[in-house]
Amino acid sequence: MTLILGIETSCDETAAAVVADGQTIRSNVIVSQVEIHRRYGGVFPEVASRQHVLSILPVIGQAMAEAEVNWDNLEAIAVTHGPGLAGSLLVGVNAAKGLAWGRRLPLVGVNHIEAHIYGSWLAGGPPPKFPLVCLVVSGGHSELIWMSGHGQYRRLGGTLDDAAGEAFDKVGRLLGLPYPGGPSIQRAARGGSPEAFKLPRAWLPGSYDFSFSGLKTAVLQLVQKYQPEGDSPPAGKSRAGSSQPALIRVLPVANMAASFQAAVIDVLVTKTVQAAQDLKAETVVLAGGVAANELLRAEMARNSPVPVRCPPLELCTDNAAIVATAGFFRFQAGERSGWDLDVAPGLRLAIEQNAPTS
Ligand code: KG4
Ligand code: ZN
Repeated sequence: MTLILGIETSCDETAAAVVADGQTIRSNVIVSQVEIHRRYGGVFPEVASRQHVLSILPVIGQAMAEAEVNWDNLEAIAVTHGPGLAGSLLVGVNAAKGLAWGRRLPLVGVNHIEAHIYGSWLAGGPPPKFPLVCLVVSGGHSELIWMSGHGQYRRLGGTLDDAAGEAFDKVGRLLGLPYPGGPSIQRAARGGSPEAFKLPRAWLPGSYDFSFSGLKTAVLQLVQKYQPEGDSPPAGKSRAGSSQPALIRVLPVANMAASFQAAVIDVLVTKTVQAAQDLKAETVVLAGGVAANELLRAEMARNSPVPVRCPPLELCTDNAAIVATAGFFRFQAGERSGWDLDVAPGLRLAIEQNAPTS
């Protein structure tokens, strides 16, 4: 049995996990900073890295204890070294390096996007069949990736502006919903109609790229239409001393959330299904925080010509079990990182942008 310790600190979750053979989770500890960042409406990078420093060693200690393993049982330490926030990544990478050095364990650097993709290897059942098309949609990324085997990636397309999760977060803020916007919009949308507002879809024909900034602007303009003349506070807040009722009461939040969610999911599903058909994929894989979205999961399953694989809900957002799993497959392939492993905030998974020739 190959036990890998995974470490993840690329954004605002401090996480450590022990995974056996890239498929069985022995422990998965996550300390989320979401309550701390909520007051800023998004992740405050400097605050995030300071919190990581406070949490990292207790989180790793807890992951080792819950897995009931000691350092001699481990085969390697895998750590996210990019993409992500530089100051946050530094904490995880340095902790991993120090522990690997001290315990004489191999070190394996992992790409955060790749870790999200490997979430579907932790869903139980047979592993996803190659070649596959993977839709990675998180707060920082929206990419369509062609994966022909372990570690073999080609980028088919991606967002030209906002990531899908970022669009959810920004629109959530416009609608006066709590951060993060994705789960809040999903919740609000349950009480609304997706046809209430006709919102634009950027189809960008002939490419597998996405764009969500036009959609976000359309929601902003709608919100402004509901804003009383001369009033400019964000939705849900009234001016200090003003008798103006809170905007949250007049905005048709449920209908707007449902219409926005439907527009995003429509484009994501259509483009992914198109890629799977064009390239004759065996599987469609969903990955990243937005893969937790219930409408995305249902619509992809309904429209895809091939089986759709998703990570379990709790493994869609950032965690270290997916890092340990991605690290396991790199480790199996003989990959080892040197002590010069550095953080790579802009790390890409695959550089080529041309579609594979079949
Ligand atoms: O993968 P993740 O935890 O962090 C990054 O690597 O960015 O993704 C977080 C993103 C946030 O933008 C959040 O709003 C979004 O995933 N998200 C969702 C849902 N749950 C989380 N978006 C839509 N629907 C959801 N249910
Ligand atoms: Zn992530």
